Amino acid sequence: MNIAASVGPALALEVADAESIAELRHQAEGCTRCDLYRNATQIVFGEGPGKVEIVLVGEQPGDQEDLSGRPFVGPAGRLLDRCLDEAGLDRQRCYVTNAVKHFKFTPRGKRRLHSKPNAGEIKRCAWWLGAELNIIKPKLVVALGASALYALLGPKVKLKPERGHILYPANRPPVLVTIHPSYLLRIRDEAEQRRQRRDFVSDLHKAVEFQPLKVDSQP
Ligand code: URA
Repeated sequence: MNIAASVGPALALEVADAESIAELRHQAEGCTRCDLYRNATQIVFGEGPGKVEIVLVGEQPGDQEDLSGRPFVGPAGRLLDRCLDEAGLDRQRCYVTNAVKHFKFTPRGKRRLHSKPNAGEIKRCAWWLGAELNIIKPKLVVALGASALYALLGPKVKLKPERGHILYPANRPPVLVTIHPSYLLRIRDEAEQRRQRRDFVSDLHKAVEFQPLKVDSQP
């Protein structure tokens, strides 16, 4: 049984208008809606097959994603792939995207350190995320971490109390709330890491089992 909660409208009420993901991606290539495009190599748009039921939303591309132009191909992506596998969720049957489409980083010598997107950047980029969801119309969206959750459900919904729950925003697809896989990579304590990983896989498994709520027809 789903744990359902009613939440307010999603953050982005105005979104890009396009007929297809290909058209949307083309529009997004010239995106200057915030300053992040200035230092990024390229936009990293969502990817997946044309017809999917599940959309996975991360935070923003990392170093390897920025260079390759594809979401979740670096260390966090490889861990995500293993956890999806264990949960029985086939990545090839999901659309994978991010709340923010350009890599935000701080240069440190030769390295580029991930820098968290701020609320303004997330709101600006929800222009694209909202449009991706309008085109795909998934049965479920998985919010991987706090930035994705913010983009999808706004500032009032917090990750910790809602983790593992499925929330039902008005006029939007349901959102399954879970952690970001990079959180697992940062946990130093082995037992805690194992526990969090197991819970993450179990959250992802809820996406496999998810059945949309039936709306009773009016008599
Ligand atoms: N982290 C994310 O949130 N998205 C990616 O694409 C890669 C790492």
